[in-house]
Amino acid sequence: MHLLRFDSLPAWVSGVCALWRDRLRMNPALNICLPTGLTPAAVYAELARNVDRGDVSFTRASVFALDEFGGLPADDPGLTRNTLRRQLVSLVDLPSERFHCFDPNGADIEEQCRRYDTAIGRFDLVLLGIGLNGHLGMNEPGSDAGSPTRRVDLHETTIQSSARYFEHGNLPRWGITVGLGPILAAREVWLLATGTAKASVARETVKGEVGLHLPASLLRNHPNCSFFLDSEAGALL
Ligand code: PGA
Repeated sequence: MHLLRFDSLPAWVSGVCALWRDRLRMNPALNICLPTGLTPAAVYAELARNVDRGDVSFTRASVFALDEFGGLPADDPGLTRNTLRRQLVSLVDLPSERFHCFDPNGADIEEQCRRYDTAIGRFDLVLLGIGLNGHLGMNEPGSDAGSPTRRVDLHETTIQSSARYFEHGNLPRWGITVGLGPILAAREVWLLATGTAKASVARETVKGEVGLHLPASLLRNHPNCSFFLDSEAGALL
């Protein structure tokens, strides 16, 4: 795991975006998996500005949403797919048929997940936030390292953390997530963390034991994983 540490949040945003532009230029057909959450929002805003200026393009790329919350109406602004559309997809030149996302209200979730894994093939790049409990996407502690894309129950900490994304108290208790299998099989993985709240789990990820108790720690065995930290998230390292 390469540690990439930045002195400030603006430097962190610029650092992630600079490397993302590089990857898209080197491979315009980049097959990429993207999270939502508070962490990547500024990165998406800057990358959308880069696309607007003509610095880089998504015209040949494919984007897969990392996960989705279940049990909510399709137009809830806090859903992963609506957030990704609002923060990135609708602002860049990605063809709509190459934006892939889950529909938890759809009929056959198992079949949907199977088709998702087939469509993924192999990711060139996966961006991930990190949960306070070390989860990746909705792969909670205890998830199998080879787990496929699937329906999952959310841990209580994840349910409570998700309150930040919703304008109501009807917090989701389950979701659909890209599995640890396709995440760990990606050619490259970037783990993103900012802010003091992530300092402790960042330390645990880098210095603690590698194991299923902390899914993020499994990335230490990945051959090409970078952990992007601002000074606050990296403060205990
Ligand atoms: P956050 O979420 O970016 O909103 O902190 C990260 C996560 O829980 O995976």
